[in-house]
Amino acid sequence: MTTKHLPFEHFSFKRLVLLGATGSIGASTLDVVTRHPERFEVTALAAHKNWEALRELCRRHRPRYAALLDETAAQALRQGLRDDSLKTEVLSGAAGVQTLAALPEADTVLAAITGAAGLLPTLAAVRAGKRVLLANKEALVMGGALFMEAVRSGGATLLPVDSEHNAIFQCLPGAAQQCGIRVPGVRKIVLTASGGPFRETPLAALREVTPEQACAHPVWKMGRKISVDSATMMNKGLEVIEAHWLFGMPAAAIDVVIHPQSIVHSFVEYLDGSVLAQLGSPDMRTPIAQALAFPERIEAGVTALDLVALKTLTFSAPERGRFPCLALAYQALNAGGNAALVLNAANEVAVEAFLNRRIGFLDIAYVCDAVLSEVPMAMAPVTVESAIDFDAAARRVAERHVMACSSRKGM
Ligand SMILES: NC(=O)c1ccc[n+]([C@@H]2O[C@H](COP(=O)([O-])OP(=O)(O)OC[C@H]3O[C@@H](n4cnc5c(N)ncnc54)[C@H](OP(=O)(O)O)[C@@H]3O)[C@@H](O)[C@H]2O)c1
Repeated sequence: MTTKHLPFEHFSFKRLVLLGATGSIGASTLDVVTRHPERFEVTALAAHKNWEALRELCRRHRPRYAALLDETAAQALRQGLRDDSLKTEVLSGAAGVQTLAALPEADTVLAAITGAAGLLPTLAAVRAGKRVLLANKEALVMGGALFMEAVRSGGATLLPVDSEHNAIFQCLPGAAQQCGIRVPGVRKIVLTASGGPFRETPLAALREVTPEQACAHPVWKMGRKISVDSATMMNKGLEVIEAHWLFGMPAAAIDVVIHPQSIVHSFVEYLDGSVLAQLGSPDMRTPIAQALAFPERIEAGVTALDLVALKTLTFSAPERGRFPCLALAYQALNAGGNAALVLNAANEVAVEAFLNRRIGFLDIAYVCDAVLSEVPMAMAPVTVESAIDFDAAARRVAERHVMACSSRKGM
């Protein structure tokens, strides 16, 4: 431990496990962490199968452990690290990734695996009582009450990294920053949304948009799945559900406004009429650094905000006809039970099919709607096994609708 050299007496040195290390959030996290070697150690890095990228990260950060879900890729990484004379121990498979999430040598886990694949590793971290920095919103959307109960019973601390939820967290009073509990005095929370790349595209042209156009976000540089979710605004819908679980707010008290400049990251409106907002340059290193260092503040390498240069900040209501996925998310949240999980599964199948050019952009909402209507409503899953079963069942129905869409279009 090197704490005796630290400027803050109460600061505790943190040992970090980074799940989703080779992705966009992974890169931003490592950028912040390497600015503060006296505060953070990169103890473990995990990803899916991109072993070349993980090898490079191991060279740079020298973690004690690495893991890849894919066994063949893990074997290639082991060989590569031996060639580099690095001592990093490489684990593999789902068990390997989950082992790192619950590693006794680490206290902090940044959960940035994309999609439902992040559920089990993130749950492993919360059950092990870690300080969990949550980027992987799909894990919470899928797990819902089950996930929050695991946070409580595991004695974990949950800190939101999604920029909107991190903004709300920052606008809540210190004593009330216990995730999952509605803060007395809050009337509503308002999530801001950039509106994505198709905010002003003529509706008739949306049918023809390509994966490349959908992934070209005007403000944020992100992974492909979340980029498509931003274009459909399903991302904001998933965030509404995430906000419900994180802050204990009902759907009716969670609003969404379009704010193309992405400077105001969200608002909290109090009963007395006060509205608190968090502002900053659109750079994920800000919420990541805030969550990593909480309750302190550290340098994140982010360009300072120049409000005078910005001149205007604009806000508008999302057009319902343009963003049907947003309405589907509210519908799922209001329906309760397994509906959010079903919607998330359908969306993941549909987005993957769109990225693989099997269906068109507008088919994403169509598939999600069809699956939500077809899969029987059931109680919210009470075990992880039942959550995974519901997820698999919804994916099978979604795949059937994808096939029907793609054969209709001759894709
Ligand atoms: N990017 C943002 O600005 C942003 C903002 C807010 C929230 N988020 C959330 O953060 C999460 C990550 O987003 P991202 O943009 O960083 O995604 P990304 O760039 O696509 O990276 C995904 C990461 O997850 C790994 N991964 C994927 N499937 C996995 C599996 N089954 N097991 C283990 N690792 C797996 C990938 O490994 P490989 O490289 O080996 O495939 C990669 O490291 C998402 O839930 C997203 O919604 C992102």
